[in-house]
Amino acid sequence: MKMDYVPLREKSIILIGFMGVGKTTIGKSVAKKLFRDFIDTDQEIEDAFQMPPTKIFQTYGEKAFRQKEKEIITNLCNQRLKIISVGGGAFLQEEIRQVCLSKCIVIYLDLSWEFWKERANILIESRPVLQGKNSEDMKKLFDERSPIYEEHHSKVVTDHLDVEEVSDFLVDSLKTAWDIYEPNH
Ligand code: S3P
Repeated sequence: MKMDYVPLREKSIILIGFMGVGKTTIGKSVAKKLFRDFIDTDQEIEDAFQMPPTKIFQTYGEKAFRQKEKEIITNLCNQRLKIISVGGGAFLQEEIRQVCLSKCIVIYLDLSWEFWKERANILIESRPVLQGKNSEDMKKLFDERSPIYEEHHSKVVTDHLDVEEVSDFLVDSLKTAWDIYEPNH
């Protein structure tokens, strides 16, 4: 099937990165600045199951969560002009990586371990993947996951930056890229 051409400036933006790096908060801020709709895929999964991720993992298992995650992201990638935040485990699935990278602009929010570990305690309750893990286990998971986010179109290191600074940087970078690559729009 021939893929529809989508102008760069109409492509949806996907934010990836480890859990708790701020994909949702930053995504909402970017969406507001660009007058776009924001979609959080974890929220979509939660709506589909009518329960939060921790409960989905307990009741139906991680496999069911990942299946729904793939279905939702694959469908969303066909929409234009959205700002989409995907869960930190989504890019573990090759099919998700491929569909996101081929149809949307993928931006990696890269927060270093030194900064991330300060947030760990407030994340555990709502993140089933962190439950039952000590600091060493979490570091291992963090290091294992980091390479999967290296498949992206652009990245921003968010250490030392607040939400506004990151979202301003992203909006400016996107506008610059749109003007360079699609100067006549
Ligand atoms: C997960 C990350 C979570 C959520 C689920 C699994 C993961 O999303 O999708 O708890 O495996 O890294 P956030 O990255 O938004 O926390």
